[in-house]
Amino acid sequence: CVLDLGGEGRVHLVMESTLTARDRVGVQDFVLLENYTSEAAFIENLRRRFGENLIYTYIGSVLVSVNPNKDLEIYSKAHMERYRGVSFYEISPHIYAVSDNTYRAMRTERRDQCILISGESGAGKTEVSKKILQYYATTCPVTDHLSTLRDRLLQSNPVLEAFGNAKTLRNDNSSRFGKYMDVQFDFRGAPIGGHILNYLLEKSRVVHQNHGERNFHIFYQLLEGGEQDLLSKLGLERNAQKYQYLVKGCCPRVSSINDKNDWRTVRKALTVIGFHEDEVEDLLNIIASVLHLGNTQFGEGKNGENQITTEPQLKYLSKLLGVDGAALREALTHKKITAKGEEMISPLSFEQAVAARDALAKAVYGRTFTWLVVKINQSLAFKDDVYNSSKGSSSVIGLLDIYGFEVFQHNSFEQFCINYCNEKLQQLFIELTLKSEQEEYEAEGITWEPVKYFDNKIICDLVEGKHKGLISILDEECLRPGEPSDISFLEKLEDTLGGHAHFVTHKLSNGKTRKAVSREEFKLIHYAGEVNYSVNGFLDKNKDLLYRNLKEVICQSNCQVLSQCFHREEVTDQKRPETVRYTHTHTHTHTHTHSLICHLSVIIHPVKSIRRFDEALVRHQVKYLGLMENLRVRRAGFAYRRHYETFLQRYKSLCPRTWPNWQGRLADGVATLVQHLGYKPEEYKLGKTKIFIRFPKTLFSTEDSLEARRPALVLTLQTSWRGYRERAKYLRIRQAVIVIQSAWRGMISRQKARRRRHAVDIIRKFIKGFIYRHYERCPENEYFLDHQRFSFLMMLFRNPPKSVLDKSWPIPPPCLTEASEHLCRLCMRNMMRAYCRRIQPEWKKQMEQKVVASQIFKDQKDSYPQSVPKLFVASRLSRVHSLTQCYGIAVTKYDRRGYKARPRQLLLTSSFAMLVAEAKLKQRIDYATLRSISVSSLSDGFMVLHVPSEDNKQKSDVVLQCDHLIEVVTKLATMADKKIKVNMSQDSITFAVARGKEGVIDFTSGPELKVAKCKKGHLLVTAPKLNP
Ligand SMILES: Nc1ncnc2c1ncn2[C@@H]1O[C@H](COP(=O)(O)OP(=O)(O)OP(=O)(O)O)[C@@H](O)[C@H]1O
Ligand SMILES: [Mg+2]
Repeated sequence: CVLDLGGEGRVHLVMESTLTARDRVGVQDFVLLENYTSEAAFIENLRRRFGENLIYTYIGSVLVSVNPNKDLEIYSKAHMERYRGVSFYEISPHIYAVSDNTYRAMRTERRDQCILISGESGAGKTEVSKKILQYYATTCPVTDHLSTLRDRLLQSNPVLEAFGNAKTLRNDNSSRFGKYMDVQFDFRGAPIGGHILNYLLEKSRVVHQNHGERNFHIFYQLLEGGEQDLLSKLGLERNAQKYQYLVKGCCPRVSSINDKNDWRTVRKALTVIGFHEDEVEDLLNIIASVLHLGNTQFGEGKNGENQITTEPQLKYLSKLLGVDGAALREALTHKKITAKGEEMISPLSFEQAVAARDALAKAVYGRTFTWLVVKINQSLAFKDDVYNSSKGSSSVIGLLDIYGFEVFQHNSFEQFCINYCNEKLQQLFIELTLKSEQEEYEAEGITWEPVKYFDNKIICDLVEGKHKGLISILDEECLRPGEPSDISFLEKLEDTLGGHAHFVTHKLSNGKTRKAVSREEFKLIHYAGEVNYSVNGFLDKNKDLLYRNLKEVICQSNCQVLSQCFHREEVTDQKRPETVRYTHTHTHTHTHTHSLICHLSVIIHPVKSIRRFDEALVRHQVKYLGLMENLRVRRAGFAYRRHYETFLQRYKSLCPRTWPNWQGRLADGVATLVQHLGYKPEEYKLGKTKIFIRFPKTLFSTEDSLEARRPALVLTLQTSWRGYRERAKYLRIRQAVIVIQSAWRGMISRQKARRRRHAVDIIRKFIKGFIYRHYERCPENEYFLDHQRFSFLMMLFRNPPKSVLDKSWPIPPPCLTEASEHLCRLCMRNMMRAYCRRIQPEWKKQMEQKVVASQIFKDQKDSYPQSVPKLFVASRLSRVHSLTQCYGIAVTKYDRRGYKARPRQLLLTSSFAMLVAEAKLKQRIDYATLRSISVSSLSDGFMVLHVPSEDNKQKSDVVLQCDHLIEVVTKLATMADKKIKVNMSQDSITFAVARGKEGVIDFTSGPELKVAKCKKGHLLVTAPKLNP
């Protein structure tokens, strides 16, 4: 099942496909199993999934794992990422899902969490715990200095495994000690410290191994991997066969184990963790000394006493353990007895000496192992010890990996301890899951039919009960005066526990079952099954016998590690020695887990199987691990529960009434929400503080809805955020604009104000100047005067008179009156000059004529003003002009007598005028003879040319009428060089008709031009008045 969190659009599809994948191979949560009461169906589901390499299956929050014993590629970094932050039910079961969920629960709920890993030996518990650690190491945030801690945390594993793991028949890397490790996280969720607690190291393995098994790995690693120099120094040979403690199982080499490589790993890990070279040396000395102890032999001396026969070993032992050789020799062959307050030394028998030697080997190894753990803890510790520090800011996740139930053919004290420990764990498990489940329903006020399950309290009581418990009896027997033995212990057991349903001995059993229990055995019917324990060695092992004198010798050791392991007070203290090791250990385990597991997150039950799915084995474990019971409880109950607040917080977006916030009571909010989601009544129940959902399916669909809703939520968030961001941006810009605007406006206004002030100053100066304008130049008026002058001149400059005719001239300020006149004149002259330069000859002529006309007629003749704009022409008779270059005009000539009007042409040449009629010269008038010309002041066209008439031949004055009188007279005057006098008469012109005889022309004004002869014989001309 692959969850692609990439493209938004695909999320829903992927969700659906995950849903189908959930059910593709069997069910991935046993809670969904149809036939949940059937063990066969249960196993079948496991088988089907195992067949598809799906090794993980949930029972609610419990993860069941089937050891595949092969590398499945499901632990990559990509897998870790896939499970990170994803809800438990959203993705296929995996140890990473459990790890992630626990981590998130720790972070969100701020409570310590614990992952309890349980299962048979070889089931894969240690592997799982390593995977969990790796998950945290990879996915948790980490800073540089924390990475050292992470490395140490990871590196502590190979060291502990080298010293505490061994090859057994079931597992090539079987943990021979129980381990509770917790990782401390800071408020950011980064790992900041760790702590390891070790339980029940199987010390007996140091001196004895069953056939096919090995001693602890470290011995073989040292012999295989240690450099030759090192081995020589330790007095060892590179051959495991040479050492008595390594040959018992006849199995020095294992194909799956590479001791040489492991040695290198361990050496490196020791350095990473921070062991000093001296400490490592001491550690190796101790390991070597254990091997030498094993080879230490006893024999009969000359005097029949028991003595050490292997001198070289003794030599090495004294060197490696840092003790006095003679004292050690003495201690290994004698014991100190205190009788009646006196100390006595008594020699040991051969068997006793061997037992003392073995006890020493076990004690040295066991305590060194504890020292190792302490050392590792020191290197992992975060400032204070986790348990002593205030836990305000940090939380821990605990990992309990303790070897599972062990049932061998021959089971001894060790198996008893282990199995009892598992029994306790099972009880814890029951308490935490089954019981607490029921209790929770009760507390929440939810009716629930109680499920029958096997409560193993009865077995725990059998073992640990006060006075009547197995352990109490063992303790008593150990301390009892007299000759207590294993057999007497067995008898005592039979006496006290006889009749207990879970306790059977040969004597107590009936005929049928008697065969199954030998005489030196007792059988305990554990929750997981029946186990026969041989009582042989129970007493000794419980006492953990180490003679006082041997202890004394070791306490004197100058080896640093040993002196830390064996305290001198132990031998000086006269108190009864702690014999019952196990009682101590068990209470430790129990109280410890109890105090730490504030919230049990998940319990993992790996089911061991070899690659082939061994049904019998699986059935056995399903039964022993109580999985069916667990499932029954889960199914009877509810698959999911959450506090109202958490539930509402997560799903409130699915209901419009609860989104974005529910204001009322939380319970009402949840009720509204589930109603909206369409939950059927049988699917859920509402408790006092929590909602209980019966089927995971219901939750799945709600989760799917949430997933489908998420893009919209994301969109809303994005829009709001973007809106907020853009608005903030806008406000920033707006603010900036306002600042710029105000600065700009300020500047403009200041400029304006400056200008205004300037203007005001000027106006003020101006007004003042105006007031003082008539005074002499003084500071008050100088500006005004200058300005006046300047503006007058500028005005002239900009707007000078445009034409010579324009006589206007601006009025100058008083101070410039004179200059103005000069300027005006200059200007006029200039204009005239320019005008004159521009003027054409014809025009000049015209002008000259006009001037003449003006001189003659201006203000004299009524028709003059009208004639001014009319241009004088060269000739009115064009032919004449072109032929003779003289002026010609058609005129009417009136006879002097009778005033007959005759049409004539008047031609003016440069020296005379002539009257022509039909190309005949009628009269020639030399200008020299022309006395004057008379014209009326009216607008008529009459003129009289006064010609002297002394000569009779010569005609007298000529009366002419023409249209362009002014032009004709002007031409005549011009041509006659203006010597001709023009008379302007108001009402009549007198002219000479003949010598002494005069004619008169009367002029009157009338409406129109009329020429008539009046009674007086005068010619009467009526002319209209053109100008008033
Ligand atoms: N998830 C897994 N994938 C592949 N192989 C595994 C897995 N888990 C365990 N194994 C195999 O099973 C062997 C035993 O596992 P492990 O040592 O964890 O068992 P254990 O439960 O700790 O046993 P013990 O109680 O003896 O310590 C490992 O050496 C490994 O080969
Ligand atoms: Mg293990």
